[in-house]
Amino acid sequence: TDRTRLAGRKVLVTAGGTVERLDPVRYFTNDSSGKMGYAIAEAARDLGAEVTLVSAKSSIPLPSGMTVVQVQSAEDMYHAVMDRLDTMDLVFKSAAVADYRPAETAPQKIKKSEETLTITLVKNPDILEAIGRRKTGQFVVGFAAETENLEEHALRKLNRKNCDLIVANDVSVEGAGFGTDTNIVRVYDKDGLVEAMPLMSKKEVAGRLLRLAAERMTRQRVSP
Ligand code: C5P
Repeated sequence: TDRTRLAGRKVLVTAGGTVERLDPVRYFTNDSSGKMGYAIAEAARDLGAEVTLVSAKSSIPLPSGMTVVQVQSAEDMYHAVMDRLDTMDLVFKSAAVADYRPAETAPQKIKKSEETLTITLVKNPDILEAIGRRKTGQFVVGFAAETENLEEHALRKLNRKNCDLIVANDVSVEGAGFGTDTNIVRVYDKDGLVEAMPLMSKKEVAGRLLRLAAERMTRQRVSP
């Protein structure tokens, strides 16, 4: 473990699940714990990187030794990420971003009245896709949580969102995905499978992902 491997490199990590507010007391969210993203941010910090963690809702304490930007919604996260993208070298997009948000956030608590209540949802911006369009040499790692056809879906995402690596996990498998302390992931690049990792702690997965990204970054970059 080389503690200076990412020295001077700026790493942006997104983590947690976005919160899409319906009214002052209610919101839509998902099961993301933030564990994978926080582990990645800590691993990058431990390799000497200057880390910015953009965190939506999580169920674990915020890590130390990095800049933390706390956000709620996908739109908040979009702005927090896009405002900082230009100065970054490496981006890990591990947040679970809600695909839709309520079309309107009611200013007051919605009162119970009719038998049915219809809520219109509108599409959120796809942050990773926007990064893929805007990037200027940043090495970008996306994530894909799937319940079927892992490889096909992951490769399609990698191409559509223009990332350099995609980390796919089958969330239907025990020991992988939301909330757990372990994960089982497969990493792909545009040519296919790069590494299939066995069941291991999210901390170990994070270390391996950082190593893969760091190797490829130096390969892609022209040294000064
Ligand atoms: O399409 P899907 O949500 O499964 O893609 C997952 C990847 O895309 C993750 O890296 C996630 O952080 C990112 N994403 C995003 N903005 C969205 C939806 C997903 O950045 N609105």
